[in-house]
Amino acid sequence: MSDHQHHIKWFRDSSPYINAHRNKTFVLYLGGDAMESANLSNIISDIALLNSLGVRLVLVHGAVPQIDRQLEGLSKSWEMLDGKRITTPELLKDITETIAGVKANIEARLSMGLVNSPMHGSSINVISGNFVKAKPIGIVNGKDFHNTGSTRRINRDAIRQQLDNGAIVLISPLGYSPSGEIFNLDSISLAADVSIALTAEKLIYFSSEGGIRDQDGNVISELQTDHAAAMSMNPSEEQLFSLTCRACHSGVNRCHIVSYAEDGALLEELFTRDGSGTQITRVSYEQIRKATPEDVPGIIELIAPLEEQGMLVKRSRELIEAEIDQFTVIERDGLIVCCGALNVFEAKGELACLATHPDYRNDNRAEQLLSSIESRARKLSLSSLFVLTTHSAHWFVEHGFIEGEMSELPDSRKSLYNYQRNSKYFRKPL
Ligand SMILES: CC(C)(COP(=O)(O)OP(=O)(O)OC[C@H]1O[C@@H](n2cnc3c(N)ncnc32)[C@H](O)[C@@H]1OP(=O)(O)O)[C@@H](O)C(=O)NCCC(=O)NCCS
Repeated sequence: MSDHQHHIKWFRDSSPYINAHRNKTFVLYLGGDAMESANLSNIISDIALLNSLGVRLVLVHGAVPQIDRQLEGLSKSWEMLDGKRITTPELLKDITETIAGVKANIEARLSMGLVNSPMHGSSINVISGNFVKAKPIGIVNGKDFHNTGSTRRINRDAIRQQLDNGAIVLISPLGYSPSGEIFNLDSISLAADVSIALTAEKLIYFSSEGGIRDQDGNVISELQTDHAAAMSMNPSEEQLFSLTCRACHSGVNRCHIVSYAEDGALLEELFTRDGSGTQITRVSYEQIRKATPEDVPGIIELIAPLEEQGMLVKRSRELIEAEIDQFTVIERDGLIVCCGALNVFEAKGELACLATHPDYRNDNRAEQLLSSIESRARKLSLSSLFVLTTHSAHWFVEHGFIEGEMSELPDSRKSLYNYQRNSKYFRKPL
């Protein structure tokens, strides 16, 4: 494929994501270390691009290395406790000034519109303000944290108003108390607090690791919130994972950890099927998984009425038992609510026995199952999927299948074809 064709394909493949992300709220976290990355200008352009695509963006920034440097430069020392800097009144002015400097740097970069830059023509309003109410951490184990605080409340209505106007809301790690005091906040937790307050669609952390890694050092592309126990993580992974779990359990749809050092990691995560970093989602009480022999009765219960109505071809219990490994199911509280099978014939996959329980239809379950079977088929290096259907032709056409000639059926499948059913043949290249 030429470069030109590759770009067109990429653009077309990304269009469903563009539609899905429009008008959704994403909270992005850029730590102080990301602010010093050589890739920062690309990240900023990508943020501007998301804004122009109609994504509602809240950007929470940190400033830890910048504050460290500032205090060291002034020969001022500080104490850390439980991973938090104790903000004494003597340090507060230097800390607030440094944070203000980092914030101004982000605002300036988002204001760029140079002709020869990717930000040409972008006109972005960046708004910041007193969106975060804070409270003191207080005295812990006899140690006074002074002006180190934690989130008390996020003014979600004020933030939403700005997002409605198309602005990017920029939030610094400072909060204010009703008595007018300033508190230095942990920016990583603040990002999670903001995403929860806004019930954001996504909370996205930029990290140096680019995601959570397995024992071999490879980024794990998808994790569910119940995976923590089974994994050994380094402290920074553990911190991000626990915050993303908290966000997922408090209404945020998905969380992501992506690299700040790798050019395009954010766009790859948001606009491609496999992504670049780690996506974290809540364990749902519905599970999509490969079927096991224990699922045979549930599958039979699901498909028997459809076999009676002639929508599905009849299968004996013995056949289902023998082919159980080819089935994928969606289970909800022990009930099989959707199933489908992948049968392989000469490098082509047949999607068979696709069914959703009548009480659970029209909620994209069959679509999810199809996409899971497509990824199983890709892993087996199959070139295409095909289906024989009597009642659901339109559903398959709406999911990318094209009607074909019966002569295209693999020979080994032709011999099993039931001419009485007069099913139509549809195929989908993978
Ligand atoms: C086809 C079937 C699997 C879809 O299950 P589902 O979980 O409801 O599917 P999804 O939620 O992903 O898709 C629902 C959409 O498809 C549409 N749809 C469902 N069946 C359809 C059909 N036969 N033809 C055209 N569109 C259909 C629904 O109206 C809905 O669209 P909408 O949201 O625009 O109204 C389910 O209807 C079923 O079990 N049918 C009987 C068995 C069957 O025919 N299986 C195919 C055998 S090859």
